[in-house]
Amino acid sequence: MEIHVDVRKAVWSRYWSHGIAHSCGGSYGNRYEGSLARFWRTACAGLRPGARMLDIATGNGAVPQLLLAHTANSISCDAIDLAQPEPRWIAGLSRHKRARIQFHGQQPAEMLPFPDARFDLVSSQYGLEYTDLGRSVPEILRVLRPGGTVCLITHHADARPVRLAAAELAHLDWLQAPAGLLETAGAMIEPMARAATDAGRASLSGDAAAHAVRTRFNALQQEAAGLAAGSACPDALAEMRAALGQVLNVAAGQGAGTAYEALSLLAQALADSRVRLQELCDYALDEAGAISLAAALGGSARNIEPLFDNGMLMGWSMKLRPVRGAVRILA
Ligand SMILES: C[S@@+](CC[C@H](N)C(=O)[O-])C[C@H]1O[C@@H](n2cnc3c(N)ncnc32)[C@H](O)[C@@H]1O
Repeated sequence: MEIHVDVRKAVWSRYWSHGIAHSCGGSYGNRYEGSLARFWRTACAGLRPGARMLDIATGNGAVPQLLLAHTANSISCDAIDLAQPEPRWIAGLSRHKRARIQFHGQQPAEMLPFPDARFDLVSSQYGLEYTDLGRSVPEILRVLRPGGTVCLITHHADARPVRLAAAELAHLDWLQAPAGLLETAGAMIEPMARAATDAGRASLSGDAAAHAVRTRFNALQQEAAGLAAGSACPDALAEMRAALGQVLNVAAGQGAGTAYEALSLLAQALADSRVRLQELCDYALDEAGAISLAAALGGSARNIEPLFDNGMLMGWSMKLRPVRGAVRILA
């Protein structure tokens, strides 16, 4: 299912508004490390002092953050994203370093606001593959200076993040199913709020419907715990289980209205996760797709490599030095 660009923009803007450093959830600490970081350090190793780089689909700037930390050279960086980034980490930079990075939010890669031949390095990590490559690749080639480099990490159709995303989508299906955990928690709010008073508790004792909802909710909470325990990606289930318990505490302590508001925020968060995970799976490149992208940038299969971290496949890495006029339109 194709996601409308405005939905994608809103979903990612909400995601980045939490100050999250990157898009790989709990699998990396506050930044990307290991072989991804090594790839980016090598990518900028040969840059001349004063070089300019452009990071495409930057999110909260995981790649610029790494590169600014690891280059002795005074490189400067423009970072664009379709969504609105909120990179809190730049507040911790010295004034000198902060002046060297500029974020451009709500800026699609298909229409770059830069003059021709502006950048020595164009980078993108888990980003370019989300764009309309038939329009973004010519833009990259336009703004890259002759002799400049394109370095990419993209999603790989067989990689761990894609497999985890597919498993997590199945958990979202389970959580959001009719009469599933989310809906049943909603049905629990009114009885929980009623239980806050003596009269309410008395009315619940003979309320068979409320009793049935409670039994179902408890059974589903247990099922969620079991599913999470047997899964390589328990986060969505475990977090939702805890959050729904809190919503019901809110119902008991602050009333049904506040609890319904909290539940609708959770439902929104789940719907957003679904969009991000579905797109991750949809835009991951198989080998033919990776070769086709490299070819469009003037390279070939020789320019792509599977990227492993701790023995786990994490994506495709690509390093290219496009030759002017080598633009090929992708099918
Ligand atoms: C998986 S995140 C990667 C973010 C970042 N590069 C990182 O490694 O943490 C994908 C990003 O692509 C952005 N994006 C999607 N389509 C885009 C487009 N057409 N132009 C620019 N950015 C886009 C999204 O807004 C999102 O921030």
